Amino acid sequence: MKALVQEGRGSADVLHLRDVPRPELAEGRVIVRMRAASVNALDWHSTHGGLLLEIAAKIMRSKDERVRGVDLAGVVEEVGPGVTRFKPGDEVFGGAVATFAEYVRAREDRLLLKPRDLSFEQAATINVAGRTALQAVRDHAQVKPGQRVLIHGAGGGVGTFAVQIAKTLGAHVTAVTGPRNVDLIRSLGADEVIDYTKEDFACRPQRYDAVIDISASRSVSSLRRVLMPNGMFVAVGAAKHGGLIGIFARLIAVLVRARMGQRVKFFVARTVPEDLEFLRDLIEAGKLRPVIERTYPLSEGREAIRYVGTGQARAKVVITA
Ligand SMILES: NC(=O)c1ccc[n+]([C@@H]2O[C@H](COP(=O)([O-])OP(=O)(O)OC[C@H]3O[C@@H](n4cnc5c(N)ncnc54)[C@H](OP(=O)(O)O)[C@@H]3O)[C@@H](O)[C@H]2O)c1
Repeated sequence: MKALVQEGRGSADVLHLRDVPRPELAEGRVIVRMRAASVNALDWHSTHGGLLLEIAAKIMRSKDERVRGVDLAGVVEEVGPGVTRFKPGDEVFGGAVATFAEYVRAREDRLLLKPRDLSFEQAATINVAGRTALQAVRDHAQVKPGQRVLIHGAGGGVGTFAVQIAKTLGAHVTAVTGPRNVDLIRSLGADEVIDYTKEDFACRPQRYDAVIDISASRSVSSLRRVLMPNGMFVAVGAAKHGGLIGIFARLIAVLVRARMGQRVKFFVARTVPEDLEFLRDLIEAGKLRPVIERTYPLSEGREAIRYVGTGQARAKVVITA
């Protein structure tokens, strides 16, 4: 089968379309013919490498996987021993590893049947970006109806989900985004949209119950300054271009504040099967809409990752096969 294989580290140039063996079936696993796999900031970071990632991989004892991609939508081709929820031909979506490939081995408990009205491309956007947004807004910021929420960096994958999820939870949403995304974010239901090239959100008198920082493009103190005294700051993202020192400095800024008793939080999204079901239900109820800016065929997957790395991708970018 064809797969986008990473040979080295440093830039998207290290990604090559290669012929590799198909993954083998195993207990509790299915083989999925990939139809769509969305790109996450994680894929860009993993391609660019760096000490931080190597340390994290060692701590988590993760296998040195040379095929990137963790989001998936496709058709079940084969089912392994012990699989009870799926049969060949089922259309599914969810998470797996090495999804930038024609065939993917996935745990059955990481997949759900794809809603009929959702395209493979849309379904492939949900796993990481949707879960991260849900956990940030619902679980860590604990947004309640009527609260005011600021979503900083609303135009990307996580941001477009976060705006909609905050709205479904009954919040008043102010979204900060770039000029190209103002209309899109408004169409997703944001009550107020601030174009960061025209206005500094920090100069508004408004104070918020929660600030969800996705772009990490402003200091933690400037973002915390717009919080109500009891408001919650949730750090989701790391700036792509601050390098290792930038990422560590931000993490430490958040952790030190948390130790000092401030209401700040950094989290790493967890794989919770119920969260995927929750998101699917919102979509089926017409309350959540995955947004895709561009799709790239697997043969041009390298360009997809390069584009996400510019920091200017709108909503989600998807690779198809
Ligand atoms: N904690 C976790 O578990 C977790 C999980 C997934 C992702 N992440 C992190 O979350 C971040 C976002 O992920 P993503 O997939 O949404 O990436 P993405 O699609 O690249 O989105 C980032 C967005 O930030 C916005 N942005 C760029 N410059 C900005 C500025 N000066 N001010 C405000 N917004 C700006 C951009 O859109 P606009 O300019 O239009 O707003 C861009 O689309 C990444 O750092 C990623 O590593 C964390």
